Amino acid sequence: MNELRYLLGLDLSTTAAKALLVDSDGRVAGVGSSLLSVSNPRPLWSEQAPADWWAGMVVAIRQALGEAGVAGEAGVAGEAIAAIGLTGQMHGLVLLDAAGEVLRPAILWNDQRTAAQCDEIRRRVGRDRLIRICGNDALTGFTAPKILWVRDQEPELYAKARHVLLPKDYIRYRLSGDFAMDCADGSGTMLFDLARRTWSAELLDALELPSAWFPPIYEGPAITGVVSAGAAAETGLRAGTPIVGGGGDQAAQAVGVGAVAPGIVALTLGTSGVVFAATEAALVQPEGRLHAFCHAVPGRWHFMGVMLSAAGSLQWYRDKLAPNTPFEALDAEARAVPPGSEGLLFLPYLTGERTPHPDPLARGAWVGLTVRHGRGHMTRSVLEGVAFGLRDSFTLIREAGLGDIHQVRISGGGARSQLWRQILADVLGVELVIVNTTEGAAFGAALLAGVGAGIWPDVATACAETIRLTGHTPPDAATAATYEPIYGLYRGLYPALRESFTALNAI
Ligand code: XUL
Repeated sequence: MNELRYLLGLDLSTTAAKALLVDSDGRVAGVGSSLLSVSNPRPLWSEQAPADWWAGMVVAIRQALGEAGVAGEAGVAGEAIAAIGLTGQMHGLVLLDAAGEVLRPAILWNDQRTAAQCDEIRRRVGRDRLIRICGNDALTGFTAPKILWVRDQEPELYAKARHVLLPKDYIRYRLSGDFAMDCADGSGTMLFDLARRTWSAELLDALELPSAWFPPIYEGPAITGVVSAGAAAETGLRAGTPIVGGGGDQAAQAVGVGAVAPGIVALTLGTSGVVFAATEAALVQPEGRLHAFCHAVPGRWHFMGVMLSAAGSLQWYRDKLAPNTPFEALDAEARAVPPGSEGLLFLPYLTGERTPHPDPLARGAWVGLTVRHGRGHMTRSVLEGVAFGLRDSFTLIREAGLGDIHQVRISGGGARSQLWRQILADVLGVELVIVNTTEGAAFGAALLAGVGAGIWPDVATACAETIRLTGHTPPDAATAATYEPIYGLYRGLYPALRESFTALNAI
């Protein structure tokens, strides 16, 4: 058999199943991916079929193994994999029956149908107690209210339910036959005891959910099982390859850029925008304005602010209003417009919001349009609006009393734009750094696998040995000063428009 010199990170995102083969020096040796689509059968609904996830992941794994070119054929690299790490979209509900069959399409993290169930959870548990136990207020996107929605709306399916999994753990189940979950992703279900890093008997009792439905919990680098002979035949992997717990996409992303200890903040400019800070204890923000979850690093937790449409806002804008225009061309037009977009503000709440306004009915808006404004202003205002929204989360993290933030590492598709990085540095008033690793959560999952396989003694060492700083974007003092009063105006818009958003939604 080949020497076990590769690690495989599997990332089940909302848009693609991705497999990343990394060697034991942290170099990318192969990438495979297969696109996924989201179904929105009704307003506020967002679903995917778990069977499509598995089919996509099989394609992605075979591609990554083939691309690695070990002896030139897929399946040979599979023999050389020391361990597999899983990551993916968080909070989704996968319900299985006693035979392990999927009962209904998975209800995803960005589904907003569960407002009534969130109210019920707050009523049954008490909002303060809920935040104290699980670290978070009841949000429509989280898993627990989705289970209650199935109870209320699809009782015949609920009666058959025997297993609850998160999306990436369905991939684990197909790979190994095991029901298992890691604590970072598990803490996003809203059914966790945050401090104890496992299911909360108190919350399960209060919501009358059978504890037998919920799988055993593992730390991110701990081995949960091995690839079965059947899955090996389907994927080209080696039967018996160990699989580690892994983590939800945000925790794995943080590992992938080295945000594993207090003081380093990870800022992700992906479809959603995230400000992530590791903590050494299970801290909660008493009003639940920041999410508090377990980190994929054993013995660490994290705070996180999540903006639902960050680079997603720019993607929407380009696709709907400037179709076929390259992002670079839009950037060039925006660069010609002065900071502040000459009085044009954009609110990026295109899919509702989580931080700092947990409101599924929040909406997007341009405010201040005049005939003077053109496409460059509109583009720049989108970049600035997203930066202002991320500043809201950054401010909450700063105020959470975590001590000095000495570095902010930015990653995600939007971070490729030098202009957007500069706008963010100026709006936040901090220097941003970029790192050599650009494969995000899949890379983090591979590092967790490497720790599980004993290649590195711990996650911090894995990050230190593979991640390097490659660029710096310092803030410009004059532009930062220009943005201060404009950010103040931005902050006033959501409170001023909230009632209009709710009324518009009723139309
Ligand atoms: C995190 C979150 C998203 C999803 C999809 O709380 O909802 O990051 O995991 O990427």
